[in-house]
Amino acid sequence: MINFLILIILSPILLCVPLISGDNNQSNSCRSYCGNITIDYPFSLKNGCGHPGYRDLLFCMNDVLMYHISSGSYRVLDIDYAYQALTLHDPHMSTCDDIVLGGRGNGFAVESWRAPYMTPAADNVFMLIGCSARSPLFQGFPGKHLPCRNVSGMSCEEYYGCPAWDMVGHKRMGSMFGSGPPECCALSFEAIKAINLSKLECEGYSSAYSLAPLRVEGPNEWFYGIRVKYSVHGNDEFCRACEATGGTCGYGSDGIRQICMCGSTNSTSNCDSGFLMSLLAWMTIM
Ligand SMILES: *[C@@H]1O[C@H](CO)[C@@H](O)[C@H](O)[C@H]1NC(C)=O
Ligand SMILES: *[C@@H]1O[C@H](CO)[C@@H](O)[C@H](O)[C@H]1NC(C)=O
Ligand SMILES: *[C@@H]1O[C@H](CO)[C@@H](O)[C@H](O)[C@H]1NC(C)=O
Ligand SMILES: *[C@@H]1O[C@H](CO)[C@@H](O)[C@H](O)[C@H]1NC(C)=O
Ligand SMILES: *[C@@H]1O[C@H](CO)[C@@H](O)[C@H](O)[C@H]1NC(C)=O
Repeated sequence: MINFLILIILSPILLCVPLISGDNNQSNSCRSYCGNITIDYPFSLKNGCGHPGYRDLLFCMNDVLMYHISSGSYRVLDIDYAYQALTLHDPHMSTCDDIVLGGRGNGFAVESWRAPYMTPAADNVFMLIGCSARSPLFQGFPGKHLPCRNVSGMSCEEYYGCPAWDMVGHKRMGSMFGSGPPECCALSFEAIKAINLSKLECEGYSSAYSLAPLRVEGPNEWFYGIRVKYSVHGNDEFCRACEATGGTCGYGSDGIRQICMCGSTNSTSNCDSGFLMSLLAWMTIM
């Protein structure tokens, strides 16, 4: 009888050991690397891994991580899991050294189903360059009340101080239009929800971000790139429960439903539900 009781007490531990070690292997099957960037939840490079809001988003080509959304492809420079942010680079984006015109830049626009999962950071400034007087940007803002402003202290007034503007000729457009639109208009993403150069009738754009509390002096010290915040909102409870029971978070073939991968089986909740079942079955046999 005592032996039997000891077995009952020990059985969860005995059952746990193989389960946990098996599941640890499974968690490594979703995590991956591209160059020196770690790809982990909610992202993944594999279909069925990660959170469904980030499916078909990242691709690794020759150790270069690419981010693909409706406005185009960007290179991922960094994924900051602690601050839940990605840093993107668009080769056709203007910087302090180079103004790229001709409307070749991607801008930034995501599919509406993906919009709840990521958005450019509030302290990321988009500076639209060479926009037409007919641009939707300037409609509904009579006189000098333009939507253009500084974002986190970064503005076009400072951007004009960049060497790139010496080549393009600052004031060229201003003088052409007289009291017309400024040749650069700074905005936060929140103000217009999509940076679409053709829709906004702009020739180019730049994007810069500040890494608070880092204070930078001039536009030559700004970080040029698009800082995107990501968030899976309340849905993350599912994944936390899954990982806490040794599972790996993924999604079903419908691309919507989250699943918890528990070794050789998939669960719609977490790996404990399966474990309890096997424990009960085992005790019944005893
Ligand atoms: C689990 O990982 C160990 C080493 O970490 C490895 O030897 C073993 O083959 C893996 N098992 C499976 C099923 O991948
Ligand atoms: C990756 O390597 C590049 C240089 O090859 C470096 O500039 C960058 O900071 C590294 N990124 C990370 C996340 O370590
Ligand atoms: C579990 O789900 C993943 C991702 O959808 C899938 O690749 C895998 O085949 C599934 N495994 C089982 C046993 O159904
Ligand atoms: C940008 O705007 C153009 C013209 O309005 C439209 O055809 C195109 O689909 C838009 N692009 C994106 C990524 O929304
Ligand atoms: C940025 O704008 C805010 C208000 O929108 C203003 O208080 C601040 O002085 C501006 N900073 C610069 C550097 O223009």
